[in-house]
Amino acid sequence: MTAKKLIAANWKMNGSKALVDTMAQQLTNLPSGVDVLLCPPATLLQYFPANRQYALGAQNISEHDAGAYTGELSSNLIIEAGANFVLIGHSERRQYFAETDTLVCAKMQQAVKAGLTPVLCIGETLAEHQQQKTQQVIAKQLAAVYAAQPELLLKSVIAYEPVWAIGTGESATPEQAQAIHAFIRQQISDYNSVAAATVKILYGGSVNAANCRALFAKADIDGALVGGASLKPAEFMQICQSAKD
Ligand code: PGA
Repeated sequence: MTAKKLIAANWKMNGSKALVDTMAQQLTNLPSGVDVLLCPPATLLQYFPANRQYALGAQNISEHDAGAYTGELSSNLIIEAGANFVLIGHSERRQYFAETDTLVCAKMQQAVKAGLTPVLCIGETLAEHQQQKTQQVIAKQLAAVYAAQPELLLKSVIAYEPVWAIGTGESATPEQAQAIHAFIRQQISDYNSVAAATVKILYGGSVNAANCRALFAKADIDGALVGGASLKPAEFMQICQSAKD
């Protein structure tokens, strides 16, 4: 549990240079009590103003340093474009691009090696949720990262995103999310009590201006990873304001 909340935007394959301009304009007066991170498509990173009160991130990186990997982007390329963070293992990458825990771990290591902060996305599918396997799934996803390199969890942000809540309008309830966040912190604490005390655990899945306050009031919810609502500058600003101390 850390003092300042982190609100992260995941634009997915949406946005435009025009949206960068309106978002940058909207975010000129961010409150100081909140940290904000924008993850637009990587081609848009270069268009954000240098003088800004928020950080930038990519939505994916290659697990390789450089070379003959047509269509891929390395950590160094996205750092040059202005990113300090990268989303790793988003459920859409796991589902549509066959990202396994092994690949997720390789990308985590690559990110940390390059000096990027990974935002590790974990969460259960609807079927796993219905079969009450949430804790089992999350424990396995975290254990893979710890096994790959124990320090990775110390250097990461975690985003708990139940897959059934992403883009569906059906957010987890604050109580459901809090219970899983507490479980995640406990799991991390079993590995490393320092990491458990400092790691930020974001909730993601249909977060909007109307439901965010109740989520942020929970002890183990340190912020949000926002998809759809992060494409609406005024609403995204409202979410950021709701998260300030
Ligand atoms: P959503 O997406 O807010 O549109 O549900 C969240 C995410 O996928 O990161």
